[in-house]
Amino acid sequence: MKLKNLRFFGRREKSVTPDFSRLPQHIAIIMDGNGRWATSRALPRTAGHRAGSENFRRIATLCNDIGVRYLTVYAFSTENWSRPRAEVEAIMGLFREYLLEACEELTKKNISLRIVGDTSPLSDEIKSLIRETDRLSQGNTGLHVNVCLNYGGRAEIVHAAQALSREVQEGRLRPEDITAAHIDAHLDTAGVPDPDLIIRPSGELRTSNFLLWQSAYAEYYFTPVLWPDFDETELYRAIADFQGRSRRFGGIEKKK
Ligand code: FPP
Repeated sequence: MKLKNLRFFGRREKSVTPDFSRLPQHIAIIMDGNGRWATSRALPRTAGHRAGSENFRRIATLCNDIGVRYLTVYAFSTENWSRPRAEVEAIMGLFREYLLEACEELTKKNISLRIVGDTSPLSDEIKSLIRETDRLSQGNTGLHVNVCLNYGGRAEIVHAAQALSREVQEGRLRPEDITAAHIDAHLDTAGVPDPDLIIRPSGELRTSNFLLWQSAYAEYYFTPVLWPDFDETELYRAIADFQGRSRRFGGIEKKK
C-alpha cells in the first residue's frame, strides 16, 4: 500500500520544533525516492541520485549541528547491483565524488565516517578512498556517520552465523554460551548502538533488508516525501513524532 493513500498522513502540521534536549541518539534513513523525484521532473534517474547525494550531505550536517550522535544511511543494498549498469556506475561515481571531497568536509565539521557493508566488489580506487577517509576521520568526535554500501541485513546475519560457527568448530565457544551480544559483535555495525528512529521517505512501507537485527526496538517513521525533498522541516517532523512515542522495549510504561 502506498502511504499517500493513508488519510492519517494527509493531516500534516506545517512546521514542528522538536525537543533538542532529548534527541534520538541514533537516526537511520532509507534514502528512497531519488528515481521518482527525477522522473517527475523529466530528468534522468541519475539526476535524482545526485540530488539524493546532496541531500545526504545537508542532512548529515544538520544532524551534526543539532547534536545527534549517530546517523546511518542506506546508500546501496546487496540487491541494488541488479539495476541497469549505467545507473549502478552513476551511483558509484557519486560515492567516489563524495569520498574525494569528504575528508576536508568531515575534518572541518568534526564528523567521522564509516562505510558499513561488504566493500570487496567495489573498485580499487573507491576502496582506497574508504580506507583513507576512515583513517583521517576516526578521531573526530562529532556525529558518527555510517554509510551502508553493498549492505544487506540478511547477509550480515549470515556472516555472523558463519563466524560464530567457526569459533564453535575451533573449540573457542560453546553453542549454549552464544548470546545476542556475540551476534552484535559480528555484524557490520559492531560497536554502533542500535538505531532509535528509522526514517523511510517516498511512501514505501517496508524495511528492504535494512538493519534487520539492529531494528528490534527502533521506532519507524514513514513519509510520502521523496528523499531529495526530505529537508530540515521533514527531519524535525520525524524527530518530534518519535518524541511523542512511548518506548517500552517489551515492558510496560513507567509511572512518572
Ligand atoms: C533509492 O532510490 C536510492 C538508491 C538505491 C541510491 C541512493 C544513493 C544516493 C542517495 C547517492 C549516493 C550517496 C552518498 C552517500 C554519496 P530509488 O532509486 O530506488 O528511487 P525510486 O524508488 O524512486 O526509483
